[in-house]
Amino acid sequence: MSITRRTALAVAAAAAIVAGSASAQAQTTLKIFTGGQQRPDVMRQILDVYMQRNPGIRAEVEVGGATSEQQQQYLNTVLASRDSALDIILIDVIRPAQWAAAQWAEPLDPYLGAEKDAMMARYLPAYREANVVGGRVIALPYFADSQFLYYRKDLLQKYGFQPPRTWDELITQAQRIKQGEGNANLQGFSTAGAPIEGTVCTYLVPVWGSGGNLTNAQGRLALDGAAAKRPFELFARMKDTGVLPNNIAEIVTDRIRLDFQAGNVIFAQQWGYAWNRFQADADSQVKDKVGVVPLPSFADGQPSTCIGGWQLAVSAFSRNKQAAVNLVRFLSSPEVSKMQAILASHLPVFPDVYTDADVLKANPWFAEAQPVVRAARTRPVSPRYTEVSDIIRSNMNAFLAGTRNADQALADMTTRLTPIFR
Ligand code: GLC
Repeated sequence: MSITRRTALAVAAAAAIVAGSASAQAQTTLKIFTGGQQRPDVMRQILDVYMQRNPGIRAEVEVGGATSEQQQQYLNTVLASRDSALDIILIDVIRPAQWAAAQWAEPLDPYLGAEKDAMMARYLPAYREANVVGGRVIALPYFADSQFLYYRKDLLQKYGFQPPRTWDELITQAQRIKQGEGNANLQGFSTAGAPIEGTVCTYLVPVWGSGGNLTNAQGRLALDGAAAKRPFELFARMKDTGVLPNNIAEIVTDRIRLDFQAGNVIFAQQWGYAWNRFQADADSQVKDKVGVVPLPSFADGQPSTCIGGWQLAVSAFSRNKQAAVNLVRFLSSPEVSKMQAILASHLPVFPDVYTDADVLKANPWFAEAQPVVRAARTRPVSPRYTEVSDIIRSNMNAFLAGTRNADQALADMTTRLTPIFR
C-alpha cells in the first residue's frame, strides 16, 4: 500500500470517527408542542441556547391550535392514541388535574428526587399548587399570567381621565372618548366573548369581584346568589351603552390583541403577552401609547382577576423522558423566565424576576404586576374541566350573542354544572 493511500485511509477513518461521534451526539431529538399565541419564535430562541450548550440534543417546535381549548382538542387525539411524536407539551394552567387523571403526563417527582421541595418552593404559590396533583408533580411552570386592564394612555390623557378603578368609570370614560373621537371603528371595551377558554374568565371575573365563586368551601356548585348574575348585568350595560364591540360574541383572545394593536380599542381585558406585541410588532399602531393596570372592580366589590399561565409537561408516551425532563428543567428556570419576560412580556413564575432591572426596562408595569398575579383567582380545578369550561363559555357566549337571556344562561349552567360539583 502506498503512503498516500494509507494516509488517505487514515484520514477517512478519522473523519468517520468524527462523523460517528457527531451523529451519536445529535441522536436525541425532542419535539415540543406549543400554541401560536405562546410565542413559538421566542421558544425557538431559547431552545437554540439549550442546543448550543447541549450538542447532543436537537429540539424541534410544533405549533398548533389558535386557542387553549383547540390545542387540547388536538392533543386529545394525539394522546388517546398513545402517540410518541411529542416529548414536551405546553399546557394551560387549568389542565394539570385533567392530565393527571388521564395519565398523559409523566410524573416528574421521581426525576427531581431530593431537589423537589426546594425547587417547587421557588415558584409563586399558585404555580406550585396548580402543577402538583395528589402529591405528584405533573408539570413545571413555563410562564405566569393574569388578566389586566390595557388602556390607551394617549386617549385617556387627551380627555383628562385617570385609568378607571371601577366598571362604572370605565363605561363613562369609554362612552365619552368614543363620542369625542367620532370613530365608528373604535371599541370601548374588548374582552373574550367567543365560545373559547378565555370567555370562562369573562364570566368569572365579575362573579369573584362581587364576592361570589363558582363553588363553595365544600366544592359544591354555588351559582345561586346575586354574584352569579353580576356578569350578565355588567355586560348588558356595556352592550346598551355601545361600549362593547358589535361582534363581541366572535372575539377570541388574540383578536382582542389584534384590534387593540390596530388602534381600535380603548380598554381591553387581556393577558400579559399582549404588551410585547404592542411595543415590538412592526405593525403596531399603539407603541408607547399603552398603559396596564389591574382590572376595575364594582363600586361595592373587590378587585379580581383570572390567573393564567402555561406549564411544561413531559408526555407519558415520550421515548426520551430523561432528556425531556432535563430540557423542561431548563425551560422552567429563572434564566429562561427572564428571557421570556424580556422577549415576550411573559410574566415570571419566580418572584425575583419581577424586580430584575432588564425585565423592568422592557416591561415597566411588571413593577406592580406581582401582587395582581398573587391575588388572581383560579378557575375551578376539576378532572372534568373540559366540560366545566364548555358549559360556562358557551352560555356566556350565547348571552353575548343575544341568543339566550341571563336567566336562561344561568339555568343551563346550573343544571349542567350541579352533577359535576356535587
Ligand atoms: C392565556 C392564559 C390562559 C388562558 C387563555 C385563555 O393564554 O395564560 O391561562 O386559558 O389565555 O384565552
